[in-house]
Amino acid sequence: MKTTVAGLCGALAMLWVAPVFADGQGVFENVCAKCHRSGLLGAPIAGNRAAWEPRVKLGLEGLYKSALLGKNDMPATGGKDRLSPEEVRAAVDYLVGLAGLTQEAESAKAAAGEAGDRTPR
Ligand code: HEC
Repeated sequence: MKTTVAGLCGALAMLWVAPVFADGQGVFENVCAKCHRSGLLGAPIAGNRAAWEPRVKLGLEGLYKSALLGKNDMPATGGKDRLSPEEVRAAVDYLVGLAGLTQEAESAKAAAGEAGDRTPR
């Protein structure tokens, strides 16, 4: 029984460490690159400014939402349930950064934030 508990603790410790890897590049390489490097299924290609420009108009929040919930052939959280929302957001930031559109996304964010600001009561 003791060994089981020790094993469990070890597993928990590993899970605990996982969020430390919430670097956008790592998540991108492990999960998102599969589609976003080649354009598989029509995914906007990483670093292709023209492909990302119209999307960035959604603002970062809009892009996070698409990545977290999925959009057409884009699977929710890139198809990896185990990714935390922080990891998914970090990967989106990384993708937007690769396209050189961080500023555009951030300024679009303000407008999108206002439009989406309807808290249901
Ligand atoms: C199975 C292939 C696939 C994987 C894996 C994948 N994507 Fe996508 N992604 C797509 C496709 C296809 C689209 C285009 C969806 C559309 O607009 O119809 C897309 C679009 C997007 C968009 C733009 C959404 C929008 O609203 O315009 C973002 C942001 C994005 N992906 C982020 C990610 C991130 C972050 C990951 C990794 C965690 C990821 N994707 C993994 C296929 C994939």
